[in-house]
Amino acid sequence: MRKVTVTVPCSSANLGAGFDVLALALSLRNTVEFFETRQGVEIDVEGEGHQDIPTDTTNLVYRSAEAVFDHVGRRPTGLRIHAVNAVPPGSGMGSSAAAIVGGVVAANALIDARLSRETLVRIAHGIEGHPDNVAAQILGGLTLVSAAEEELLVRRLDVPPLTVTVALPDFKLSTAEARRILPQEVPLKDAIFNIGHAVFTVQALAAGDYELLRFAMNDRLHQPYRKRLIPGFDLVCAAARQAGAAALAISGAGPSIIAFAPRGHDAIANAMRRAFTESGLNSRTFVLPVDRQGVQVSVIG
Ligand code: HSE
Repeated sequence: MRKVTVTVPCSSANLGAGFDVLALALSLRNTVEFFETRQGVEIDVEGEGHQDIPTDTTNLVYRSAEAVFDHVGRRPTGLRIHAVNAVPPGSGMGSSAAAIVGGVVAANALIDARLSRETLVRIAHGIEGHPDNVAAQILGGLTLVSAAEEELLVRRLDVPPLTVTVALPDFKLSTAEARRILPQEVPLKDAIFNIGHAVFTVQALAAGDYELLRFAMNDRLHQPYRKRLIPGFDLVCAAARQAGAAALAISGAGPSIIAFAPRGHDAIANAMRRAFTESGLNSRTFVLPVDRQGVQVSVIG
């Protein structure tokens, strides 16, 4: 019977001005194994947040696999799923996207459906509702997406070797809540501000230009609203800058904060943790290289 192993990198979406458009894959991976069985569905989950993740057919990895089976019109006789999570749920590091990507990519390999990476991004986007994290996790590196109605443009850019610091305060924030507080309409000048800063963020990351990133990584569409959900946000950013960070952003929908710097990542991590402590929150930090490979698959049998 066939066995598929998939590892999925986490990701940091938005990168300031690139709301729902930009994301960077990072080297912290969830693992999903699919075993073809004679009948039925069995699911077990280990690692980050496992106690809160359902192991029945409402499981997100399973539902994502079902989307591929439905798309292709073929399914295994039975399925066992074993998931080992390294990405904390509700963190802004793309944990739900990682479950979806794990599910669609493993299902594609299990039934040998040979769907293209672009089709997998499209299916994963349909489940997640926004395409930025799923694109980065499937393709690796820095990804650009544009999704409107039926249109979906996806491109991957190589970035120079780059390491980031991510500080995660000890509470969960649901993406739904972090989207609900955003205004439905924005002033034209704020939209123009973001278009300019997003294109310069891409240029700064592609060139490894931290001085440009210092200017470019700024946003008016979501962070001014979302930062109110993250106690100590301004203090943590100031402490990171003091420790040498060139640029910072809320990672995805938060509550984690991502810091960019050419060096000194551990000192920046310590400064961010201390600032969260001063704001009354425990926190964890991750020093992570950019992941350039995207999702990885191996098949036995
Ligand atoms: N772009 C999305 C958001 C990413 O910021 O809401 C969250 O998954």
